[in-house]
Order: sequence, then C-alpha cells, then structure tokens
Amino acid sequence: MNQKVSVIGSGNVGATAARSIADKELADVVLLDILEGVPQGKGLDMLEACPIEGSDSRVLGTNDYEDTAESSVVVITAGLARKPGMSRDDLLQKNAGIIKAVTREVVKHSPDCIIIPVTNPLDAMCQVVYRESGFPRERVVGMAGVLDSARMRTFIAEALNVSVDNTHAFVLGGHGDAMVPLPRFSTVAGIPITQLLDQATIDSIVDRTANGGAEIVKLLGTGSAYYAPGSAVVQMVESILKDKKKILPCAVFLQGEYGIRDLFIGVPVKLGVGGAEQVIEISLEEEEKEALDRSASTVRELVNILGL
Ligand SMILES: NC(=O)c1ccc[n+]([C@@H]2O[C@H](COP(=O)([O-])OP(=O)(O)OC[C@H]3O[C@@H](n4cnc5c(N)ncnc54)[C@H](O)[C@@H]3O)[C@@H](O)[C@H]2O)c1
Repeated sequence: MNQKVSVIGSGNVGATAARSIADKELADVVLLDILEGVPQGKGLDMLEACPIEGSDSRVLGTNDYEDTAESSVVVITAGLARKPGMSRDDLLQKNAGIIKAVTREVVKHSPDCIIIPVTNPLDAMCQVVYRESGFPRERVVGMAGVLDSARMRTFIAEALNVSVDNTHAFVLGGHGDAMVPLPRFSTVAGIPITQLLDQATIDSIVDRTANGGAEIVKLLGTGSAYYAPGSAVVQMVESILKDKKKILPCAVFLQGEYGIRDLFIGVPVKLGVGGAEQVIEISLEEEEKEALDRSASTVRELVNILGL
C-alpha cells in the first residue's frame, strides 16, 4: 500500500503541492476543502494527468475527513486571505479558528501523522496546530524557511550567474519581513557569499528575500505566491517520506535552543521519518542574535493575542 499525504485546502498552494506530490509518485494524495466540487474536480484532473506523468499515485478530492485517515503527512493550507477592511488581527483570529477546527479533524483521523502547517501567519498558526493537536513537537513542522531560502538562492544565483544547484542559503526566524537571512552561512560551492559579493549586493539580496512574498503579491494583484511555496512543501514531504534527513529551515517549537523558549520560529532542522528529528544550533554573532530576537518578538506578539 502506498503512503498517504493529505492536503487540507485545495486552493493555489494546496493544489500545487498535491499535483507535484502525485507527479513525483511520492504518495497517494487526498485533497480536502470545504468548497464542494472544487477538491473533487481538481483531484480528478490531477489523477488524469498521472498517466502522462507516468505516476501511479492515486489522487482523491473530498470534503470528508474520513478519506484522510491514516495519512503519514498532512499539509494544512486552509485559510482565508485578507479582505479589504479586515485587520491583520481579524485575519489572525479567523485563520486560528479554521486551523483549530482542521487540526481537530486531522488528529482524529491520523493520530500518528506529521503535520506541516502552511497557512499564514505561519509561525502563529504552527503554535495553534501544536496546542490543538497535543502532538510532540517533532510532528508539527511549519513550512516557510525552505521557501525563503529558495528565494534567496534564486537571487544569489542570478547575481553571480551560477547554477542554483551550487547555492545554499541560510534563513532564520519568523516568516515575515523580520526574517533573518544570514549571508555568512549562505554559500556558492561552499564559499560564503560574503567572499563573492560586495556588501551593497548582499544587502539588496537580503532585502529582496525578506520582501519576496510582497513582491509577488504586488505583481499578481490578487492572491499570493504558490509555485515556489508548493515546491517548498513537497521538498519537506519528500524528506519525511523517504527519511532523507535533509537539514532544512523549518518552523519548530523551540525549547531553549537559540535562547528562545515555547515559541515556533524558523531554524535548521533535520527532517526525517520522525519529523523534525533534531534542531541544528549554530552560534550567532551578536547582531544576528538581536535580529533573531526581534523576529521572535513579532511572532510572540501574535501568539499572545491568541492566548497561546
Ligand atoms: N508559509 C508560507 O511560506 C506560505 C506561502 C504561501 C502561502 N501561504 C499561506 O497559505 C495559505 C493558502 O494560500 P493559497 O494561496 O492556497 O490560498 P487559497 O485562498 O487559494 O486557498 C485556501 C483554501 O482554503 C480553503 N479553506 C478555507 N477554510 C477551510 C476549512 N475550514 N477547511 C478546509 N479548507 C478551507 C478555501 O476554500 C481555499 O480553497 C494562506 O494562508 C497563505 O497566506 C503560506
């Protein structure tokens, strides 16, 4: 029997991730949404792409959590986008309500799964999933850092005219404009970019990375990025299902690492069949630590509003 991955929310990010999981034949996929017909239609469409892609993954669209039973991994992309007149706090409360209800159903049907929250505000929504699921921290791993570092890698490769394959980017902190890209640990073929690029170019790469989401929102007009976020989700899913133990930047519940306690924040983790199997700690310079603390305090503000 194939493993099963369920994707909750069949919108742009959910559908993009589901399609790629099926294309790569990583698992059978269940796509669930509250909208009737939409997950079923998209799921059938993806299934009909499988013969062309050479994949025997089964894809099912549904409104029923029964179909998600015994998933190995559940990706949560369900949520609302901010509408005109809605404050950030309104959105925070609304999405927290959705995520709570979704988590309850997920846990009921897949008590042993690993949950990858994607819905924004990411780090706060991870905290909601963690509290509501009662899962050990290893099994709630938020997606943001893989996307943020992919954006940084894109800009580094562009600046140096080298293959993206040679690039490695290191981003810490919450998912938002207070995130902390670390040039010292960002490399091309193992060489820190601080030895390859001048400071002004590095500053502009860091700035573009931190505002990468907003850049795409502005171009699209409505909605937000989904191709790179979908790919980022799939890289995490693959590392878990194949027990690859990749070191990837993910949001995890810190318990004293990096001097931060009881808060989800993006740090490098070893991602394998057990979920976030290890938090990798590196020693930060004072300025970097201050930036991480600033980022953590913006996440803590949201978590406090939610009373978590
Ligand atoms: N963490 C990241 O790096 C990252 C990157 C991109 C997007 N996001 C976030 O991911 C989320 C999804 O983005 P999108 O572009 O796919 O949005 P979208 O609006 O296209 O899709 C959201 C889907 O969730 C569904 N939904 C709403 N309430 C639900 C519920 N109770 N149960 C099941 N489904 C429900 C909606 O019907 C919709 O189909 C957003 O919160 C977005 O901000 C995060």
